[in-house]
Amino acid sequence: MTSFLEDQFGLKGAVAVVIGGSGVLGGSMAVALGRAGANVAVGFSGNADKAGNHARTITESGGSAITVKTDAGSESGLRKALAKVLETWGKVDIVVNAPGVNSPTPVFDIPDEEWSKIIDTNLRGVFYSCRVFGKQMIEQKTGGSIINISSVSSELPLSRVFTYSISKAGVNNMTRFLAREWAPHGVRVNAIMPGFFPAEQNRKILTEERRNMIFGHTPMGRYGEPHELSGALLWLASRNASSFVTGAIIPVDGGFTSMTI
Ligand SMILES: NC(=O)c1ccc[n+]([C@@H]2O[C@H](COP(=O)([O-])OP(=O)(O)OC[C@H]3O[C@@H](n4cnc5c(N)ncnc54)[C@H](O)[C@@H]3O)[C@@H](O)[C@H]2O)c1
Repeated sequence: MTSFLEDQFGLKGAVAVVIGGSGVLGGSMAVALGRAGANVAVGFSGNADKAGNHARTITESGGSAITVKTDAGSESGLRKALAKVLETWGKVDIVVNAPGVNSPTPVFDIPDEEWSKIIDTNLRGVFYSCRVFGKQMIEQKTGGSIINISSVSSELPLSRVFTYSISKAGVNNMTRFLAREWAPHGVRVNAIMPGFFPAEQNRKILTEERRNMIFGHTPMGRYGEPHELSGALLWLASRNASSFVTGAIIPVDGGFTSMTI
């Protein structure tokens, strides 16, 4: 007999794709999906080895995982990734969009190439992924769950990450728009809005001075740990536990977005 928790949250047999799966948060989320029973395609753009390590963590704990090249800047590349996932498992149920690049360049100094790289990766890339995998979910007629990784910088702008904040504001709007468009097809589109988690893309930005500012503005007074995104992720990914949730943007931020003075 299926247990209540398995019925609500179990992902056995589901197929998940994680764009940005070689990264710190994407990797942790890929492993969480695998441990919850999903077959996971761990996406990478540059670092295949890191994606391979995350896939191995899943297979070594009895799950099923592959790595797949998913350059968010290439819609045709994402279609190839989809083809590989379909060849392997025949469907796609869950997509996590966690590609991300960032830069602290002051507004007047931002070169065009930097603006384009951040917007192309964080915003256009998520759009391409939603379009490629969302179309497949609609055509399958089995519904699905898309989870975009936003940021606390998406609502009130965060100092030093101008282009990044704009890209994430776009991700929020896209999430709500597609949630509304695709609800009739059973495709749910939500976002997780993480606070501050030390990772690759923000390593240079999280100086000691900035850390003190962040901790002073986070009621829990610390950074998040990647595994602390798993609860929101598995809830949004699950077919039953979040069946009436779409267009939601869920903060996982130690209280950062509820803090004033
Ligand atoms: N770490 C945080 O504090 C934090 C906070 C809020 C939101 N986020 C978001 O979480 C997500 C994961 O970032 P992270 O913090 O783990 O950083 P990370 O640098 O460890 O991971 C970022 C990932 O994005 C991938 N990537 C970069 N360019 C890509 C492209 N063109 N196509 C596909 N993938 C590409 C990288 O290969 C890497 O795997 C990002 O969307 C980031 O904006 C992170």
